[in-house]
Amino acid sequence: MEIISNPAQIRRQTQDWRSQGTKIALVPTMGYFHEGHLSLMRYGREIATKLVVSLFVNPAQFGPNEDLARYPRDLDRDAAMAQEVGVDVLYTPPAEAMYPPGYQTYVTVEELSRGLCGASRPGHFRGVATVVLKLLHQVQPHTAIFGEKDYQQLQVIRRLAADLDVPVEIVGRPIVREADGLAMSSRNTYLSPEERASALCLFRAIKAARELVLSGAKSRASILEAVRGIITATPHTNIDYLALVHPETLQELETIQNEARLVLAVWVGKTRLIDNTLLSESRLCCV
Ligand code: PAJ
Repeated sequence: MEIISNPAQIRRQTQDWRSQGTKIALVPTMGYFHEGHLSLMRYGREIATKLVVSLFVNPAQFGPNEDLARYPRDLDRDAAMAQEVGVDVLYTPPAEAMYPPGYQTYVTVEELSRGLCGASRPGHFRGVATVVLKLLHQVQPHTAIFGEKDYQQLQVIRRLAADLDVPVEIVGRPIVREADGLAMSSRNTYLSPEERASALCLFRAIKAARELVLSGAKSRASILEAVRGIITATPHTNIDYLALVHPETLQELETIQNEARLVLAVWVGKTRLIDNTLLSESRLCCV
């Protein structure tokens, strides 16, 4: 595996591969890898001949009071894990190369960025959309792979690629969970043992919602009430948002018509956790 930090060098490499007709997949990350990241890499390994993983803790997507400075980082560990999965290039651009002095261009996916995480993290999706568009231009992959864990992010990126005619296929992959159901996240490392136990309420709430839908519940009120009850009964928690939304537009739904996405963000102590699930009338979903 090669580690490349220079945008011009990664572009030369991938252009070279492209000119030979080689299929390239990109997995954008902020590092501190866990099985969620690795599942995206393994999928990329399967569908493409060359697999590039970018590792960049993107300052533009963190608010002034957020965790940019303490975001977990361990390049040696990440490089060993990426190598093990068969990554061809780990692309680690420095912040000065991504945002040099004079930098002033940002991309906003307007409506999809507004609600949910966008409401509690102003500017977050502007930072995500901007860095992802830059990475797509630098690496020029045929396919870029993202996790459904960050469900709003995935919809924002799909829209970005479609609206700005980026010649890339965007693929979303299922959420990877710990054995007890907690969605894997680099931020889980912030949780104390007590908070880690409380964090399970997100998955418990998701399971309860799925069961309700299976037993015929359709209304937003009945589903969100059950979810709210489970979370508020759990110590150390504070709900940021709970919503039942259309899977693509992310508009709030009053009732489930065929399919809906339950999305939630909950503070557990000082850590904000997100999770989501498909709620389907016709399909018993598994994640
Ligand atoms: P990061 O949080 O490092 O996540 C990188 C990718 O891994 C994202 O597509 C995310 O959805 C996916 N992922 C994280 N946890 C997962 C889980 N438990 N199961 C499945 N996939 C999971 O998301 C970002 O970085 C950044 O915003 C980025 C897109 C790289 C732009 O800076």
